[in-house]
Amino acid sequence: MSVFDEKIDRSKTASVKWELTKVIFGEEDLWPMWVADMDFKPPKAVLDALKKRLDHGIFGYTFVPNTTSQAIVEWLFKRHQWEVNPSWLSYCGGVVQAISTAITAFTNEGDPIIIQSPVYTPFFDMVEKNNRKVVNSPLIREGNKYKMDFAGFESALKEGCKVFILCNPHNPGGRVWTKEELLKIGELCLKYNCLILSDEIHSDLIYKAYKHTPMASISDEISEKTVTFVAPSKTFNLAGLHSAVAIIKNPTLRKQFNQVQKRQGHFGLNIFGIVGMEAAYREGEAWLEDLIDYLEENKNYAIAFLKKHLPKITCMEPEGTYLLWLDCRELGFSDEELRQLLLEKGKLALEPGPKYGPGGNGFVRMNIACPRDYLIEGLNRLKKALS
Ligand SMILES: Cc1ncc(COP(=O)(O)O)c(C=O)c1O
Repeated sequence: MSVFDEKIDRSKTASVKWELTKVIFGEEDLWPMWVADMDFKPPKAVLDALKKRLDHGIFGYTFVPNTTSQAIVEWLFKRHQWEVNPSWLSYCGGVVQAISTAITAFTNEGDPIIIQSPVYTPFFDMVEKNNRKVVNSPLIREGNKYKMDFAGFESALKEGCKVFILCNPHNPGGRVWTKEELLKIGELCLKYNCLILSDEIHSDLIYKAYKHTPMASISDEISEKTVTFVAPSKTFNLAGLHSAVAIIKNPTLRKQFNQVQKRQGHFGLNIFGIVGMEAAYREGEAWLEDLIDYLEENKNYAIAFLKKHLPKITCMEPEGTYLLWLDCRELGFSDEELRQLLLEKGKLALEPGPKYGPGGNGFVRMNIACPRDYLIEGLNRLKKALS
């Protein structure tokens, strides 16, 4: 039995995934495979470090120590062969918050910003809620994978976009963009003087046959025009600790970003976010390797199940992330019918595809970061709802 098979009761912990399903989906007793967190405990070293800090008992103002920045840069080098100087790091309470800060720092109201749909919903929200304009360059489906539309992207750049928000790896499609793809899109951004905000929150969850490339590691020129966001939250299931990092090599951009943070009264992280992040990056690697094996088995199990029981659903096989992007269009249901069947007949909470913007209709997103028995329960409910 794997540690990841352990079933941990998350009720009465104010878990968004388990306890907000009724509020979000309007139905009781739903099986939750929607929001992107995992039903696993983090590595033991993280729990030990948090307990030790808790036992100390004093929780006054705390800065992020050099040992934490050192742990982060060592991790980025070890996992992604990316050399980062600790002075390039700025700390944030989350990646979405950091994207909003960057939008405020690098653009003005009304400015156009490129995104590639279907994509993580807050990309739209952070642009629009900051009174900027979304310019969409939709991804193209080729075979059973998303590809970037370089010609469409160049047309979008010609509309005067000065910022592009990249999802690397891609949520919801699970693509781990290749170095060639990133180089091509990066060079287009350089040609039109467009900054790249590269959200790399899923970059540690990469299946064995693939390799993550940090956008900023592609070339010196691209690194000067890229702001990267990473966090231990997806990798080690620490989203509730609210710690994330913006990595900005270009000193002018870094100053602009930090000035907005200061203006917002944002200084540093909470104590447990700091301690948990450092312990995870320092001591979590072996646990992560085991997690990736477990997720890979979950992914393979789910895809085989779908082929056997729901052959009209096509799963975009993820190269990274613990998210399955299920194309249900061949079933012939509208999005509203899909929603009703899943909730009322299957009692299953999945993310509805239209949330991810143009290209999401007819899809649903399933989170498979759970014990195998939970996965099987969810798949059986999917079968009940849609077969
Ligand atoms: C691409 C992407 N960025 C950011 C986030 C959320 O980051 P945070 O919780 O640090 O704001 C998620 C969560 O699902 C995500 O998928």
